[in-house]
Amino acid sequence: MNTATQPFVILLIEDEKTDAYLVKWALEENRISVDLRQAFDGYEALAYLRRCAPHFTDAPRPNLILLDLNMPCMGGLECLAAIKQDLSLRDIPVVMLSTSHADRDVFASHDLGAADYFTKPMDIHQLVETIRILGERWITSGVTAREKPHAALRHTVELLEALPALPKIAREILSIKLSTDKGSDLLLKLVKKDPAILAKIIGLANSPPFGTSRKIETVGDAATVLGVNRIKMVALSFAMISSMRRKSAGLLNVTELWQHSMIVALAMDTLSKAMPPERRPPEEEIYLAGLLHDIGLLVLEYVDPDLSDRFHAARLGAGAGRPFTELEAEMLEINHCELGALLAEHWNLPETIIAVLRDHHSGGVAPDAVGQPLIAMTNLVEKLLPPFDMSEHIPSGINIEEWLALGIAADRVDELETAIRKHAKEVVSAPT
Ligand SMILES: [Fe+2]
Ligand SMILES: [Fe+2]
Repeated sequence: MNTATQPFVILLIEDEKTDAYLVKWALEENRISVDLRQAFDGYEALAYLRRCAPHFTDAPRPNLILLDLNMPCMGGLECLAAIKQDLSLRDIPVVMLSTSHADRDVFASHDLGAADYFTKPMDIHQLVETIRILGERWITSGVTAREKPHAALRHTVELLEALPALPKIAREILSIKLSTDKGSDLLLKLVKKDPAILAKIIGLANSPPFGTSRKIETVGDAATVLGVNRIKMVALSFAMISSMRRKSAGLLNVTELWQHSMIVALAMDTLSKAMPPERRPPEEEIYLAGLLHDIGLLVLEYVDPDLSDRFHAARLGAGAGRPFTELEAEMLEINHCELGALLAEHWNLPETIIAVLRDHHSGGVAPDAVGQPLIAMTNLVEKLLPPFDMSEHIPSGINIEEWLALGIAADRVDELETAIRKHAKEVVSAPT
């Protein structure tokens, strides 16, 4: 897992000695080998991170911070805010590990920049399972890529070897059959157990396109607004995207990528409602295609973080405003569409989804090709979106034939364009 020369360093910020011991024990139970350092409150943690004399001058920089919420002197949220305001520390991912499962704590942590949130169970067997999931998501998943720097993009075989397995939680979600009440209950229970996924579901249910007048606060209420199919696909996509996240922040802004993907999924949903019923793809395919369509950007970051940073530095700097695919053709040996399709194949996702990931920027894909009409819908929606931060700067010219090919009459085009752009702006300006 970790190399002898580069141990994976975790700073555990936890005031309770027993809790700290249990976390250490649960890591060992899961055979997750790390260099575990500990601070007993927020002040000591900041002294450690800033290498203050006399105790911390040689303290190794952590690859990950595990942060408790309720601590004396400086609480977890205050400590998190201080870390994220410090330019030299803000790149270190902070994962909250707290006994609190209150929504306000989950949302406050995410608002302040926590990368993830885990509830610390009282039962030690459940704690071992929680630490196993945390380890799979944040500690062990990037190892293969770290051990194979730069080589992966050159050959498909090496690239495939560097990709992670489909995460366990995604396999669990995929195995749930929603045709029965039991399946729906199982899904909602699973979502409830994962605060990070729960936050995404609640956030979507409260987002402007769903237009509820009351605030949605529970997964049960979210199910009423969104339906279980949407919840399943959002949970699945978020679990997949989380498993590809880099251990320290790079120039690809994952929050913006998720927002862009959500806007595309919502816009495709709006588009599908204007299509004749017999042409509409299933709702779950719309969300999976929309939410995963650009996952290839994360693949690049996963297999070659330096190259990914160079690409994003170019698109934010000298290449600003140019289509991603154009820059990729200049800088990379493979683009995000091909990388996304390779990952989707590696994870055995449906052929339709693989085709969308591969062809979402390709014009002229035959109307009866695998992946249609989702490919045409993604392609059209991308051209409609206003140029927000994660815009791929796709030229916006849309031919009337593209609308007609989806079965949408010309007299509905203006209304749909307005609705899709309005929803996109509302999602971007909504609090996250
Ligand atoms: Fe996109
Ligand atoms: Fe794209």
